[in-house]
Amino acid sequence: MPLSRRRFLHLSAALSLTAGASLSLTACSGGSADSGTQTQDTGADLPALALSKAPWVQLLGPTSARLRFETREARALPVTIALPDGSSLTATPALREDELDYAWDFELEDVPPDEPGLHVLQELLLEDLQPGAQYGWSVDLGGGEQVSGTFRAPPAAGEAFRFGWLADTMRPTVTETAAALRSAAPDLLLHGGDMVYQTSPADTWTGFWQAMATLFAGSALGVTLGNHDFEDMDEVHVMFERLFMPQGDSGANRYNAFSFGGVRFVHIDTESDRFGFPEEVEGMWDWVRAELQATADDPNLRFAIVLMHRPMFTLSKYWVSDATERDARHAMFVEFGVPLVFCGHVHAYEHWEVEGVHYIVDGGGGALSYDPVEEKDAVDEARPGESDQQIAHSRTYGVTVVDVGEDGRLAVQRLAAGTAAVEDSFTVG
Ligand SMILES: [Fe+2]
Ligand SMILES: [Fe+2]
Repeated sequence: MPLSRRRFLHLSAALSLTAGASLSLTACSGGSADSGTQTQDTGADLPALALSKAPWVQLLGPTSARLRFETREARALPVTIALPDGSSLTATPALREDELDYAWDFELEDVPPDEPGLHVLQELLLEDLQPGAQYGWSVDLGGGEQVSGTFRAPPAAGEAFRFGWLADTMRPTVTETAAALRSAAPDLLLHGGDMVYQTSPADTWTGFWQAMATLFAGSALGVTLGNHDFEDMDEVHVMFERLFMPQGDSGANRYNAFSFGGVRFVHIDTESDRFGFPEEVEGMWDWVRAELQATADDPNLRFAIVLMHRPMFTLSKYWVSDATERDARHAMFVEFGVPLVFCGHVHAYEHWEVEGVHYIVDGGGGALSYDPVEEKDAVDEARPGESDQQIAHSRTYGVTVVDVGEDGRLAVQRLAAGTAAVEDSFTVG
């Protein structure tokens, strides 16, 4: 039985925040009417339990984050958190159990299948994080084995940090783009959607996690919804929402926002209304305006960076002939001084500057590439002069890294898959 939205919301509603001393750890899970929550002892004599989804961390607020991982057995695996002062805390995560019908198997030797049956999401809420501090986590798999990683808590405004963007991740090339981004050691990782392609004979969710595990082990993750996250087997509920939602501090929506280092990261959902979920995005653009206004009014926030899957400006096959809505949204970004807008969907790289707003279209995460200026003539005919605002383009695989300086200046670099060679760079501010 596919997951329903009701069950997803039950989980999010069960998140309970606790105040504490230097760090609070809370096992957070709702279970559901037919699953429930279990915790079992993890004796040292038990064999190692394999992870079907390696750990990842998402931000829920300025001082709170959530660690999740997935197993195929309902055996809670203890998690040890290494604190900035050198001490550590160990806690047992809560379990959410779901029986999934989702199955995807190409029966290829190097592609791990998505198998139906019991999937156990193990999760731990971390509260009272120290701004900008580095935290370690280690999951005890049993049998003397463990898996470890780190993440940086959201820095205060005025602290420098680095974030990285990748989108449209298809195996096998995603292993090269993930490696390039990992070598850049971002403090925050942003995925722009289209995580897994059922059209690809090399993609499964389990395989995606294998490719991303090292990257996920280095920083907190923010996700944006893409069109390929809506494929068969109720994928958007069973995978995207079950695994990644809720995110941020603005409500349990597919669009959401969080703050990091004085920057408001605003994730927009450009896809739900196209795939039969218009209610999911009802009022979203009013919410975007309110977020931008709140950012402008908050002395602890410098500006917002907007993240969406579908591009607003492109010369690729995804250009749109009717730009009415696009122009209204762009005008809003100009009004509020949004310096950067990230988009994916186009399997290539484009950099635009339109009235001071820099649009980075980078869907070069591994999905089969195509020409990012294929429809230049059509755009020129429809809107003469628009294409002059495209500053750079490249039909290459890669990722984009942004250094946010203490002074708020942005240094942007587009890095090539594999080598991490700088293909394009510019500064804003
Ligand atoms: Fe894509
Ligand atoms: Fe897409």
